[in-house]
Amino acid sequence: MREENQSSTLEFILLGVTGQQEQEDFFFVLFLFIYPTTLIGNMLIILAIHSDIRIHNPMYFFLANLSLVDIFFSSVTIPKMLANHLLGSKSITFGGCLTQMHFMIALANTDSYILAAMAYDRAVAISRPLHYTTIVTLKSCVLLVAGSWMVGIANSLPHTLLTASLSFCGNHDVANFYCDIASLLKLSCSDIHFNVKMMYLGVGVFSVPLLCIIISYVWVFSTVLRVPSTKGVLKAFSTCGSHLTVVSLYYGTVMGTYFCPLMKYSLKDAVLTVMYIAMTPMLNPFVYSLRNRDMKAALRKLFSKRISS
Ligand SMILES: *[C@@H]1O[C@H](CO)[C@@H](O)[C@H](O)[C@H]1NC(C)=O
Repeated sequence: MREENQSSTLEFILLGVTGQQEQEDFFFVLFLFIYPTTLIGNMLIILAIHSDIRIHNPMYFFLANLSLVDIFFSSVTIPKMLANHLLGSKSITFGGCLTQMHFMIALANTDSYILAAMAYDRAVAISRPLHYTTIVTLKSCVLLVAGSWMVGIANSLPHTLLTASLSFCGNHDVANFYCDIASLLKLSCSDIHFNVKMMYLGVGVFSVPLLCIIISYVWVFSTVLRVPSTKGVLKAFSTCGSHLTVVSLYYGTVMGTYFCPLMKYSLKDAVLTVMYIAMTPMLNPFVYSLRNRDMKAALRKLFSKRISS
């Protein structure tokens, strides 16, 4: 009973990216630029893909889904950060905090599983070109995408429920600009051993796609090297290059942020977190549209249609 009372009125303080006022102002301006760019960039990708019948194929459906996840992902934390900065407030309710944490973990997982589905799709296209249309069917794509969303929820709900049942006594200062699980666990005065174990299990589930991506690329490169035609190599690089760029950006920053979660929070971690949360979703559409001829054509078509109508 007391616990329930506690959690309904509980407020947390988001200390910010670094906690230093000048740096907070800098990050505010940075986010003010990044957030609309992310929304517009990703929405354009989705619109372009859906309006161009020539690229209605699995690779672009996955890409559109990735853009959708990126839009949600940045909307979980950035608007709250911007609003708090404008209002001169640092507070967030316990419910808001858990909501942020829940969707952050869920969407990060979905993102990561969709990246794996994309790698698998490319690997089949390059290594089994003749069987591609029978292996990667519309049905299997829908299954992969639905599975990615499901894993996201399945790998975040337990953490959310476990964190919701913790007690928070003294300090309510979250050393970040959003509620992340590691900061919340550190603030709790309950026994968090089980929570930490579950968190590492969660990181494990989250990392499975990385293994799949590595295997897919080993498969791609072994195929390309076995048939060493310049054209084949170029084709492989042009279709995989963008994906590989996004994957390295994504996992590079995630590894930096997640693999030292309970250690002291430094400016370097703060910058890595910002990279991961704000920059990666913003850069995804650019990486894909600037390097990909079909994507560029689809965007051009989208714009010319708007202008002529
Ligand atoms: C996500 O993928 C599914 C299955 O490939 C597709 O039907 C759907 O349109 C995609 N979603 C978006 C937003 O493009």
